[in-house]
Amino acid sequence: MSIAELFDLTGRVAVVTGAAQGMGRAMALALADAGADLVLVDRNEDGARRTAAEIAALGRRALADGCDCSLPEAIRQLFARVDAEFGRIDVLGNVAGDGYLDKPESIPLEKVELVLKNLVVSRFCACQEAGRRMLAAGRGSIINIGSLASLTALGRGHIAYSMAMGAVAQMTRELSTEWSGQGVRVNAILPAQVVNPGLEARMTADPNLRATYLRGIPAGRLGEPDDIRGLAVFLASDASRWITGALIPMDGGNLALNGGGTVRPPRAK
Ligand SMILES: NC(=O)c1ccc[n+]([C@@H]2O[C@H](COP(=O)([O-])OP(=O)(O)OC[C@H]3O[C@@H](n4cnc5c(N)ncnc54)[C@H](O)[C@@H]3O)[C@@H](O)[C@H]2O)c1
Repeated sequence: MSIAELFDLTGRVAVVTGAAQGMGRAMALALADAGADLVLVDRNEDGARRTAAEIAALGRRALADGCDCSLPEAIRQLFARVDAEFGRIDVLGNVAGDGYLDKPESIPLEKVELVLKNLVVSRFCACQEAGRRMLAAGRGSIINIGSLASLTALGRGHIAYSMAMGAVAQMTRELSTEWSGQGVRVNAILPAQVVNPGLEARMTADPNLRATYLRGIPAGRLGEPDDIRGLAVFLASDASRWITGALIPMDGGNLALNGGGTVRPPRAK
């Protein structure tokens, strides 16, 4: 198989959640560029439709769905629609899911439950629905989005988010262990800070935050949604056919850096 064939996704069907913007949109466009047909899922249905239009312009089949991924029943309906429209699923990009920031000593337990529902139960439900179909077909690739907070602590009110992202790491390892012998690979991407509207708002509210983030990123810049493109195609395709259960940092070197380490200043331009 040539290298081009290894990365080729022609004829494959990918479902990507959170596809209206950010990393979900970038992942969906990259998979389509590599040949896949796409189901674009986002509670912002207009946004999902805009991504679908971009993908249709590439000559791929693209279906937009306004599923609220925090609701298991809505996820089940989404997959029933995928069955009816495509009759197969080869790739799941599990991207959507909100966090909530508050101090451990004051966060209401309802908010903790909400975050666990958004990031753990709902993502697991999508894995379960996709996984059942992939197991029946004997092939598939699931890509979960985790975080630096899957493996390390961030402080600043991330308690619920970190507990949930830690569970996403274990979800990935357990599912890979159970399913990879049946042809279904499960991996996770762990991004550091990737610019999005929520992050921009937090950096505007706290003028020191950008510098705090950058102190943890030896590569010297924040992430951009497009940084996920290559990794998404790699994990979705046969190029990664023996890679499963992996938690892959997409972080400009953050997780390699010890908290007491020193980052060399960026080269003068
Ligand atoms: N941006 C970062 O710095 C960063 C770092 C690590 C992990 N993550 C995680 O990656 C994921 C995507 O981040 P992003 O920066 O691309 O986010 P984003 O805010 O740019 O986009 C998220 C998209 O998901 C959709 N969405 C959210 N909840 C949904 C739901 N319940 N149902 C359907 N759609 C929903 C939103 O409408 C939006 O279009 C999130 O889970 C986030 O926690 C982000």
